[in-house]
Amino acid sequence: MPIIAPSLLAADFSNLRHEMGSVAEAPWLHLDVMDGHFVPNISFGMPVIKALRPHSRARFDAHLMIEPADPYLAAMAEAGVDHITVHVEGNAHLHRTLQSIHALGCKAGVAICPATPPEALSEVMDMVDIILVMTVNPGFGGQKFLHGQLAKIRTLAGMIRQSGRDIVLGVDGGIDETTTPLVTEAGATMLVAGSAIFGRDDRAAAIRGLRAAAKPAILAPSGE
Ligand code: DX5
Ligand code: ZN
Repeated sequence: MPIIAPSLLAADFSNLRHEMGSVAEAPWLHLDVMDGHFVPNISFGMPVIKALRPHSRARFDAHLMIEPADPYLAAMAEAGVDHITVHVEGNAHLHRTLQSIHALGCKAGVAICPATPPEALSEVMDMVDIILVMTVNPGFGGQKFLHGQLAKIRTLAGMIRQSGRDIVLGVDGGIDETTTPLVTEAGATMLVAGSAIFGRDDRAAAIRGLRAAAKPAILAPSGE
């Protein structure tokens, strides 16, 4: 059963506390932080996250679409996030960034854009806790799923198996009941979903629908 992480980016920003409550049955809450520089959009940052923190029991899963990320890691942890995911693109000293995230007591994630090959993560497989495959180009919700990313999900699932580590393999962008069977068969264990959850009146039903659409992973026979 995949972890469902509703993306607050698709929520009604005039009523965030209530919106967060409407997805309380999901174990993670995905928080998209954008800087208008790494991605062509600006969302929200630490003050908003800090204000929401006392009102949810979910693990706060921050997805930093900011460049550079290093100067903001401590403030993110202080705002109460549990996971900090940075991009492999735009963070030149990724190894040190992941070390810094761990030193702050958070789980460390790496997100990878559609144009970046999976091998970009090969040297951090011993320290990353979450890999987030972008199945759209980051910056906006409601975009169309990029089917070309399925091969990358499969490759990364193989790399995770080879590492022998318990790494969460997330997907982000265009995830709904149609694309969930594809990404879970490819090996995804965590699904970020914005419009597919917040775009529906009954959020609990939307979360259940995604869980029900998941399929068992089809593993490559050689284990590569
Ligand atoms: C896009 C963000 C996503 C976004 C997904 O840059 O990283 O988390 O909210 O939105 P949907 O699920 O609507 O594609
Ligand atoms: Zn995201």
